[in-house]
Amino acid sequence: PTLTPFIDALPILSTIEIMNGSQLVLGAYKITQVLHSNLSATTLYAYGTSEDTATYPGPTLEALRNTTSYVRFDNHITDNETFLTTDRSLAWANPPSGGVPIVTHLHGGQFQSDSDGHPNGWYTAAGDHGSTFTTMNHTYPNTQPASLLFYHDHTVGLTRITVLSGLTGLYIIRSPTEEPSNLPTENNEISLVIQDKTFWENGSIAFPDTGVSPENHPNWCPGYFGDTILVNGIVWPYLEVYPEKYRFRILNGANARFFTLTLSNETLQFIQIGTDGGFLPDPLYLTEITLAPAYRVDVIIDFGNMTTGTSVYMNNSAPAPFPDSISVLNPATVNSVMEFRIIARASRRSRSRNNYTIPSKMTAAPSITYNLTTDVYRNMTFEEKLDADGNRIHVLMNNARWTDPVTETPTLGTVEIWDLINFLPDAHPIHIHLINFLVVYKQSFNATAYTANECSILVEYPYSGSCFTEAPQEPNSTLVGWKDTVIAYPSMVTRLWIRWTNREGGPFPFNATEGPGYLWHCHLLDHEDNDMMRPLVVRE
Ligand code: C2O
Ligand code: CU
Repeated sequence: PTLTPFIDALPILSTIEIMNGSQLVLGAYKITQVLHSNLSATTLYAYGTSEDTATYPGPTLEALRNTTSYVRFDNHITDNETFLTTDRSLAWANPPSGGVPIVTHLHGGQFQSDSDGHPNGWYTAAGDHGSTFTTMNHTYPNTQPASLLFYHDHTVGLTRITVLSGLTGLYIIRSPTEEPSNLPTENNEISLVIQDKTFWENGSIAFPDTGVSPENHPNWCPGYFGDTILVNGIVWPYLEVYPEKYRFRILNGANARFFTLTLSNETLQFIQIGTDGGFLPDPLYLTEITLAPAYRVDVIIDFGNMTTGTSVYMNNSAPAPFPDSISVLNPATVNSVMEFRIIARASRRSRSRNNYTIPSKMTAAPSITYNLTTDVYRNMTFEEKLDADGNRIHVLMNNARWTDPVTETPTLGTVEIWDLINFLPDAHPIHIHLINFLVVYKQSFNATAYTANECSILVEYPYSGSCFTEAPQEPNSTLVGWKDTVIAYPSMVTRLWIRWTNREGGPFPFNATEGPGYLWHCHLLDHEDNDMMRPLVVRE
């Protein structure tokens, strides 16, 4: 269908406060919802407190730092199977009585692993459950800094389908003492969930179901790229804004599409104040901002000098796949994201209340210290396995699958250095559960020489024997600050500093060694569903 951009208003996501110690019950339901006014209602799976109130995206849950929240996730989806085609050749949940399994992960959250939404801990409406299922009741201590997290389904082998079908929502940890003063708030603080989808004429989601390597995987494709962009569940919406400062908390909730956001008026900038793990030390003034899938950014846009009656467009220039399109994947950059329409405030009184300011300093800069001889060092190589025709079978990390024995078993309290060594032609957003980490640097290397053992990535550039072809690059805006997901760029080593503690370096306020354990994986959902995912178990 041809969908005209900017004819539907941006929905403001509903919020539910989960600060009072009682348990919130959220269900996953099958619903229909209109995603563009020229499009018939779309069948979706969605979270909500009831079938009637379930929405895509789900309600935004608001927690308070250091106040424990309790959420139970019920499964009310009674379909026999997902309405988008399940690929039964993957390692997937495969419930014995059929049905659509779910298990909800709070992405970026720090809690005991039985609340983590382990991919094998799925359960169906009929009561089947996976091998690591312990409970549908999740306990979130919220001891980490103020930040934007998000919850989404994480069922093994189905996540690309359940998330594309709608099972995602935002989660905000608020912490009044950390907030710089006079940040835009109330109606000037808006959350944006950006995703892409393609639709059939009848409004249903179009999802390719002929695999690129059908003899291995009849239905699996390496990366879903939709031809429309949705923000908060509406295709190419518009938002009316006053000529004032706004704070936007943005999630890239797409399966595989990166977004490089730009603003059509060159006098405007994204003033980035936060990232996955919360506030940055200092604001960054940016003309473009790149979000990999699962990335969150906290930005201020100051429309203060804009003329009422004019519009600013938020556009996207990221190739798909990122950072260079690869023809086999049928790439397409979808340029439009949304429109901001500048309108006047009705009364002078409401105008005078607004004294929002851009902070000059948000928090202390983190420091990175490590010692490669005494700290644990891990090499993580990403390579793809091809079938005889050169078609992709799967992308593996360290040549291991999800079901292979755990190899990442960090000890609580220690520092580890992970080198993500990407031999692939595309970037992979790597997400690690349980902790926030820091990026030390990224650096280009000679993959051929490295594979032939002719050099080492432990020898610094430019010394002889080094595999690196250039000096290390300091983290730019896409890598800076406390992260839980990081872009591993192609032909680069991305070095991570990981400390298996809470953010302050102290013990977790829960037993991280209890439960089914954690994981780390590529957040291209099509990859994570096909073995670019590994278990991670924390030890005492
Ligand atoms: Cu957002 Cu393990 O995922
Ligand atoms: Cu990947």
